[in-house]
Amino acid sequence: MIKIAPSILAADFLRLGEEVKAVESAGVDRLHLDVMDGRFVPNISFGFPILEALRPATRLPLETHLMMVEPERYLEAFARAGADTLIVHQEVSPHLDRTIHLVKSLGKRAGVALNPSTPVSLLEDTLELFDLVLVMTVNPGFGHQHFIGYTLEKIRQIRERLDRRNPQCDLEVDGGIDAETAPRVVAAGARVLVAGTSVFGDPAGPAAGLRSLTQAAARRGSNPAERPNH
Ligand code: DX5
Ligand code: ZN
Repeated sequence: MIKIAPSILAADFLRLGEEVKAVESAGVDRLHLDVMDGRFVPNISFGFPILEALRPATRLPLETHLMMVEPERYLEAFARAGADTLIVHQEVSPHLDRTIHLVKSLGKRAGVALNPSTPVSLLEDTLELFDLVLVMTVNPGFGHQHFIGYTLEKIRQIRERLDRRNPQCDLEVDGGIDAETAPRVVAAGARVLVAGTSVFGDPAGPAAGLRSLTQAAARRGSNPAERPNH
């Protein structure tokens, strides 16, 4: 079952409530909120006001993708503001074990994100701790970027490890996911697709964007070269 997590970064912020209702009624699994601090990534997006406004407006689980330095400073505040899943970047979490346990002590799902250049091996000792592993398939900071092809091998490696050691953990991918790349990442082992531009940027509206993405993801085995090995 492939799940879609629309990234609201690509939504029309003048009509954010309507955009969220449109994807909620189209049957997405969760909302992806890209929080950017202008230091870990060269962009600033949004924070607590958006999360607090969305929380009462949707029943969808909210996952916060924290693209910020020292994310541990704000975990409690994001939990209080209504986040269900807190995703921190491995690259800015030298005390990742402690951070993940803090998220769990708040009663939230704990996710870790890896930038394209960050090796899977850095999760070797902590893989069992996570509820979600997010593989960045673009360099974080912006929507509407091109998919980075070498991340497919990382997805395969993580899929193999999770199947063995933590099969309940979500394997989520993020960045440049559209009708062309969706079948490729699913064939490599991704099961949750974050999509901003291909959903909210579809000229026929988000429901149409979701339809074409879901149909494309279902074609995962079409290319024998990328057929899943399980
Ligand atoms: C990038 C964000 C992604 C991005 C996805 O730093 O983490 O979630 O918004 O947007 P698209 O799907 O447009 O690449
Ligand atoms: Zn994201």
